[in-house]
Amino acid sequence: MSDTRSDTPLSDRPSTTRASGELFSEERSAEVVAASFADTPDPRLRQVLTSLVHHLHAFVKDVELTEEEWGVAIDFLTRTGQMCSDVRQEFILLSDVLGVSMLVETINHRTGGTSTESTVLGPFHMVESPKRELGDDINLDRKGTPCLVSGQVTGPDGEPLAGASVDVWQTNEDGFYDVQQPGIQPAGNLRGLFTADEQGRFWFRSVVPRFYPIPDDGPVGQLLAATGRHPNRPAHLHFIVAAPGYRPVTTHVFVADSPYLDSDAVFGVKESLIREVPEVDDPARAAELGLANPFRTLGFDLTLLRAGDAPPAAQPAEVQPTVVRGAPS
Ligand SMILES: [Fe+2]
Repeated sequence: MSDTRSDTPLSDRPSTTRASGELFSEERSAEVVAASFADTPDPRLRQVLTSLVHHLHAFVKDVELTEEEWGVAIDFLTRTGQMCSDVRQEFILLSDVLGVSMLVETINHRTGGTSTESTVLGPFHMVESPKRELGDDINLDRKGTPCLVSGQVTGPDGEPLAGASVDVWQTNEDGFYDVQQPGIQPAGNLRGLFTADEQGRFWFRSVVPRFYPIPDDGPVGQLLAATGRHPNRPAHLHFIVAAPGYRPVTTHVFVADSPYLDSDAVFGVKESLIREVPEVDDPARAAELGLANPFRTLGFDLTLLRAGDAPPAAQPAEVQPTVVRGAPS
């Protein structure tokens, strides 16, 4: 801590104090610190910082944080930063396991119950998914339980979105994405960028995905272990679906019989995104599709909002949030 005291009389010092001139106290700490941001030129930055200070100080007072705990928190955040690299973002992982990523996603993609709900993008999307034809098998190494995936993309009034783009990616039956197993899985395995037909329909052949753990060999994994939480995500297929004039949706479809549906490590599961994946035992149909018999089927229809429509308002909260004093209206 630096000592900022001076022998210069107060009255002779340059006027660098804030307009309020109020000194720090335990009772008024949030107000005093928030006031230091009062002249922030960017109004949104001022709003965010003011609210952050109030909530942060309320948290510290609520738990009466000890100096030792403060040190542990600083060390944890330091190690979280040090774990980050071009291929590892431990802070996003921290945001994920605290539910903040899903909250930001949900706030920014409200559906009002009229369109397909979104969920997190996750770290395994390729910017350029390999282009595929409808009906293609994206399971390039032919391992796992075969699955026919199909669906239709429509607008809010049920209008088919001809030519919608359908970008999909998923794990193999061992719970790994291709990029996690170079040399074991073929590049581009279990990924594809499809173009829906004139009726907005899409279909392709794949395998049933498996649950998998998020990376847990860093500080976030230690946090999960210390709190008795597991690192797993339930089995899912990722989708990004887009059509001109409509809002794209980034989402998953979850396999209904997967473990961890009720305890996703990143809170990505929404009830509306869970689908049964029933087995079909029909040798003739399997031969027609080019799949081994028996196979499973997964149907997932998607509805997109029109780009020009106003986003739905937030649902009223059951519990009123704490009123934050001093936040700009
Ligand atoms: Fe995933």
